Amino acid sequence: MEATYNYKVVRQFAIMTIVWGIVGMLVGVILATQLIWPTLTEALGPLAPYLSYGRIRPLHTNAVIFAFGGSALFATSLYIVQRTCQARLLSDGLASFVFWGWQLVILLAALSLPMGFTTGKEYAELEWPIDLLIAVVWIAYAVLFFGTIIKRKTQHIYVANWFFGAYIVTITILHVVNSAELPVTLTKSYSAYAGVQDAMVQWWYGHNAVGFFLTTAFLGMMYYFIPKQAGRPIFSYRLSIVHFWALNFIYMWAGPHHLLYTALPDWAQSLGMVFSLMLIAPSWGGMMNGIMTLSGAWHKLRTDPILKFLITAMSFYGMSTFEGPMMSVKTVNALSHYTEWNIAHVHSGAMGWVAMISIGSLYHLIPRLFGREEMYSIKLINTHFWMSTIGVVLYIAAMWIAGVAQGLMWRATNSDGTLTYSFAQSVNAMYPFYTIRLIGGVLFFAGMLLMAYNVWKTIAAGKAVNDARIPEAVAA
Ligand code: HEM
Ligand code: HEM
Repeated sequence: MEATYNYKVVRQFAIMTIVWGIVGMLVGVILATQLIWPTLTEALGPLAPYLSYGRIRPLHTNAVIFAFGGSALFATSLYIVQRTCQARLLSDGLASFVFWGWQLVILLAALSLPMGFTTGKEYAELEWPIDLLIAVVWIAYAVLFFGTIIKRKTQHIYVANWFFGAYIVTITILHVVNSAELPVTLTKSYSAYAGVQDAMVQWWYGHNAVGFFLTTAFLGMMYYFIPKQAGRPIFSYRLSIVHFWALNFIYMWAGPHHLLYTALPDWAQSLGMVFSLMLIAPSWGGMMNGIMTLSGAWHKLRTDPILKFLITAMSFYGMSTFEGPMMSVKTVNALSHYTEWNIAHVHSGAMGWVAMISIGSLYHLIPRLFGREEMYSIKLINTHFWMSTIGVVLYIAAMWIAGVAQGLMWRATNSDGTLTYSFAQSVNAMYPFYTIRLIGGVLFFAGMLLMAYNVWKTIAAGKAVNDARIPEAVAA
């Protein structure tokens, strides 16, 4: 028993990543459709309120970030920590608790959000009983992860674990501080903070949820799967350490860029802007380290679609971390804020970086969990790659044009000072772009269905691996 890895929990989370990816993106497609046909779900009669835009938008964000992204992170971190520490997870019972606990959180979210229960805090909408459950499951995860690091057989702690470690610690702090609330009933609570303090705490949380959940943790994934898939050591270990500390330090201060031109004191807004600009350096350090790992193995990109997923994800990471700092500049934000430009930025990060690095990593992982040399069909992975890439490009290009057009229309004035366009005219101008976005979204979503088929066939031809032996510890 001791001499093997616990692959069961990795398998469970890996499968659920695909399931939740499909569910979350389907909801995204429904949202995109509703923006073109706002009355679409009204035909559902008494069911209509449960699928109204305001209720299923947070369902989408929670499903793709915490159910899909979260499951991918649980699967990969619990795999990587075992492999790189050459140790079985601290406890099988705790691993099982983390899996079932997290699925329960997702289920409660999927029920409570369409029913309209929400704290109103973006990315932290779940009501207080679910918040408590999240805290318990998360702490169990922390014990499992760090406990495994403590019992490691290698002297060295591989850099991917540093990134996962930082994300686990930071998410604990963010969740506990931002969810401080006063319950009034089982399904309603009020934030412990008020006014501008509430806004600042919320966006300190919101930005760092992006920084640590959607970035630092996925960098941990990158540091294991790119070298593995490319068959090369990481480009620079020194760079990984430097960008690790710089990223963690700088991210913490950038939250106010979500509150530019608000009641937040001006100095705090400027501080947020400056730290956001500085964020380019560590972000690009990480991107370079990932992409340059391919030095001497560039030719593999031609034939290996898994590597294509991983390296394209790094390119999107680089792109969105260049765009983000630009959007933090006050004068740029004056144009971009409230517009579809945000949605473009979000999805170049979320679909291009987060989803594509997860998909690539899963294609590497799944055969290993089911005793197969490789996936059922490499051709289908290649098709999936092109569907995702074209899908995300259509999505973000449409939203960029839409966003800039929207911003310019809102600020256009006639010579007598009156507005050139009414708000309704700016909404009307969005339709062609919403349609292109929908096409891109459907392509991306259909790619996930293809992946599910490919995974299904791989599993059917394989057998769950439960006795992967831990090699004898190598001398440090
Ligand atoms: C098939 C793929 C997807 C489609 C069609 C889609 C569609 C949408 C739509 C229509 C919105 C609402 C936009 C608005 O209110 O103007 C949205 C918001 C959002 N989506 Fe997606 N999405 C997809 C994938 C993803 C993924 C994979 C993630 C994260 C990993 C993600 C994260 C988000 C976030 C964070 C928001 C809120 C953005 C904000 O408030 O600024 N989406 N999505
Ligand atoms: C250097 C890194 C980054 C910086 C400085 C940055 C900066 C920004 C800025 C200025 C906004 C617009 C705020 C507003 O006007 O309301 C924004 C929105 C957003 N960004 Fe980034 N970004 C970065 C990277 C990323 C990445 C990699 C992702 C996703 C994986 C991401 C996800 C988001 C999301 C979800 C929002 C929308 C928040 C909302 O709901 O309003 N960002 N970011």
